[in-house]
Amino acid sequence: MKNSAIDAIMHPESLAVVGASTTPGKIGYTVLENLVKQGYTGKIYPINPSADEILGLKCYHSILEVPGTVDAAVMTIPAKLVPQAVEECGKKGVKGLIIITSGFSEVGKRELEEQIVDIAHQYNMRILGPNIVGVLSNSDKMNASFAPYLPLPGKATLVSQSGALLIAIDASTYTRGVGFDKLISIGNMSDLDFADMIAWLNDDPNTSCVTLYVEGFKNGRRFMDVCRASSKPIIALKSGVSAHGAAAAASHTGSLAGAAKVYGAAFEQAGVVQASDLDNLFDRTLALSLQPPMKGDNLLIITNGGGVGVLATDAAERYDLPLKFAPAEVQAELKKHMPEFGSAKNPVDLTGMAGNEWYHDAIKFAYAHNWVDGLVVLYCETAVTDPLEIAKSIKSALDESGTKGKPVTVSFVGGERSEKAMSWLVDHGIPAYGAPDTAVNAMAALREFARMKEMVNESVAACGEEGRAEALKVIEHARAEGRDSLTEIEAKQVFSAYGLPVTRTKLATSEDEAVAIAREIGFPVVMKIVSPDILHKSDAGGVKVNIKDEAAVREAYRAILTNARNYKSDANIHGIAIQEMAPWGTEVILGSVNDQTFGPTMMFGLGGIFVEVLKDVTFRVAPVATSQALRMLAEIRGAPILAGIRGEEPRDRKVLAETICAYSNMILDLADEIAESDANPVLVYAEGKGVKVVDARIILKPRP
Ligand code: ACO
Repeated sequence: MKNSAIDAIMHPESLAVVGASTTPGKIGYTVLENLVKQGYTGKIYPINPSADEILGLKCYHSILEVPGTVDAAVMTIPAKLVPQAVEECGKKGVKGLIIITSGFSEVGKRELEEQIVDIAHQYNMRILGPNIVGVLSNSDKMNASFAPYLPLPGKATLVSQSGALLIAIDASTYTRGVGFDKLISIGNMSDLDFADMIAWLNDDPNTSCVTLYVEGFKNGRRFMDVCRASSKPIIALKSGVSAHGAAAAASHTGSLAGAAKVYGAAFEQAGVVQASDLDNLFDRTLALSLQPPMKGDNLLIITNGGGVGVLATDAAERYDLPLKFAPAEVQAELKKHMPEFGSAKNPVDLTGMAGNEWYHDAIKFAYAHNWVDGLVVLYCETAVTDPLEIAKSIKSALDESGTKGKPVTVSFVGGERSEKAMSWLVDHGIPAYGAPDTAVNAMAALREFARMKEMVNESVAACGEEGRAEALKVIEHARAEGRDSLTEIEAKQVFSAYGLPVTRTKLATSEDEAVAIAREIGFPVVMKIVSPDILHKSDAGGVKVNIKDEAAVREAYRAILTNARNYKSDANIHGIAIQEMAPWGTEVILGSVNDQTFGPTMMFGLGGIFVEVLKDVTFRVAPVATSQALRMLAEIRGAPILAGIRGEEPRDRKVLAETICAYSNMILDLADEIAESDANPVLVYAEGKGVKVVDARIILKPRP
């Protein structure tokens, strides 16, 4: 008997098929047949109330009649019969359930789904599914599914939210030559979800890489925590990234697909490599399942063709692994393994004359050299070489180099002979692809994995209790007045409580007070209407800038009040904010949303046209560590502006990154209070001169 329910599902020593059918072609027949005929060695118990024998096995009319213990049960009976069958499995002492049946939350029958989970939990059982294809495992020779056959054996495990896609992937593992140890269909994730399976697979000796097809999560933060703690590479293909796609995913699985950018950010923060499409998922899975991570940025490309070398160089730049010239001593040594007209820079062009020996010697030297963090070997099929011999030279060079722990990917461009040579390489643990671009992309996946793993465990500075108490006081005051948004002054008080550098701002309720505050702050000042009923202050004529003296303060005070009254005669006006006029700086926007899957999430972008027209913004789930904040600054298209263009000094990215971290701490700490917020604009000054939050907005969450 197995201890853990997931163990029982993944490695059952005894398995019941509840709904084993007597009719070939039915799902309940196919599952039983797959178990019987595809090598499963555990005990199989078909359960069917009106059959005595199926496929030569004794059939039991109820699971309660089975004489021995039953680790897990696969269910292939109609949905309405599932609750009672779950109950009986519980009474029998079954640990895990693989519920293939459809007709639960994916078609709106949430209560029925909750009912089966409740019953299962009463008996300490766990459920995989419902609405799944089942589980396939090469290492257990178990095809507990209605997919036709076990996948091509390999070291990756696929966890898929789509059953149909899992079946399609199963078949294409053979045509693509990318192997999997297990294929796990998780369907509605009524109980066991991605996080449970990833945690379990981290200890599975037969899985070296976890491949995910994701439509949406129910608990995004738990997923992130489990992925961070995982030592194995995890790669995800997320569907539903277009607005239309998201709607399709929601109706397909009953779970809501989150905004693509937020998912992308969460994957990055959790150390999950992403795939851009199905082909890319396979290509990257192959590399991640066979090769170690690439721990530095120095990629060396060795080729016998200039053309494929250039294609690979372009790809390297595209995938964030730009090539550098190899150091002089590396070039000098490599020069020995090529003709006079070869190139030892990077790519290293051994020329079309390169045979087994040059490949072998160049690779053996380069792979062992400290400067090289990763190696991409390219080969164009020529009449003077045999692709299989080149493949063998690559393998022996790597083996003889005395080095381990560095990644290699290969691309052979040619015909049938090259295809065969690449299969040989894959069989010997070296990922090989038909296009140089793909080999570089696969290497980039190994680099991304290493880079993200270095960053994911970076700690995030906690924020002080003091700030929280101060912020809550401001929020409570607004709530007591029945408001669901804070005024600019209040929002700045909250920001300030969490250490954000806001412009000095004070509320004046009379002309005289306005003058006194302006004197205290120092001229010039900015004056703005403060009214919960006027959110777009400029549209209402409620903002005056560069006010240089007392007379101008008085004039502006009267003008703003008149404009506000004309704009909205019944507006509740708190007064006029007098604030320090910050000197010009680069305008950026910081903002937050409370994402339904991941909770408080930060946004950053350049202000003005960049955010409004180009939507050049990036996201991170809060809290944001410093290294991630710096990546946010670097990954927007407008990043060169912050780096300083046209002779301008670079902007103070360090303080801007710290401000993002502080902001993210604030939204996490006040997750129950803040629905949305923004600091717009934030002015960023030259290095060493910091940033200033000029305007602030906070929308409160309704209280339950
Ligand atoms: N215990 C055990 N066996 C029972 C019980 C019971 N309580 N009640 C009925 N059975 C038997 C039936 O007698 C039948 O056997 P028989 O064919 O010998 O008479 C067998 O269980 C199956 O029951 P049926 O009523 O014939 O159900 P059917 O096979 O038509 O459908 C199924 C059952 C397949 C579970 C269906 O309800 C279903 O959900 N289909 C969709 C499954 C699916 O696609 N899942 C993956 C989704 S992902 C994707 O898109 C690929």
